[in-house]
Amino acid sequence: MKNKIAPSILSADFGTFAQEVQKLEKAGADVVHIDVMDGHFVDNLTFGAGVVAAIRPVSNLFFDVHMMVEEPQKYVDEFAKAGADSMTVHVEATPHIHGTLQAIKKAGMKASVAINPGTSVELIKPVLSMVDMVLVMTVNPGFGGQAFIPEAIEKVAELAKLRTEKELDFEIEVDGGITDETISQALDAGANVFVAGSFVFKGNVTENIEKLRAKLD
Ligand code: DX5
Ligand code: ZN
Repeated sequence: MKNKIAPSILSADFGTFAQEVQKLEKAGADVVHIDVMDGHFVDNLTFGAGVVAAIRPVSNLFFDVHMMVEEPQKYVDEFAKAGADSMTVHVEATPHIHGTLQAIKKAGMKASVAINPGTSVELIKPVLSMVDMVLVMTVNPGFGGQAFIPEAIEKVAELAKLRTEKELDFEIEVDGGITDETISQALDAGANVFVAGSFVFKGNVTENIEKLRAKLD
């Protein structure tokens, strides 16, 4: 599976999103990770589909929308129209996870399910055959710049094993505290999509992406 670097624009300059996203494309990012927060599921607020629509015309990169909101099924069509390529919903925030993943696919997006550090893989087993990606949170969601939780990596390995056993093909994404030091643990366990916010945007974006990529070879 292709290894992908997915910078999170949560750590970008909110005043100049369009330029920041263009910068990512030039710097060799594979995916733009877009963190949507509602102040209920997590104690932070970010933005909605309007921001996705605003940056869509300036980039051809894959837009990976991470919904840290309760009842994300309400927003599926809105984000699809705005130009999102993939929508990730948390099993903890989505009462009808199966139906919501179906709705995401029906809207023409890739469908992905996320689990928090305290959530077991067991909870998403029934939907593994229908997802394009599983997001394993390696911090508690809500804020950038937190420390990586190493125990979460066991779930990456568990998912990679299940994928082989069940002959499935979902990608495995890790999100939170990913740096040039922690990325290798996630890679070794079987992850292939690496979200990084503060590590990418602190200092030189191109150099930071290269530092991550160097660890994936
Ligand atoms: C956290 C978000 C992350 C965040 C990661 O709730 O889901 O995508 O931007 O930030 P870092 O890489 O700084 O931990
Ligand atoms: Zn995220």
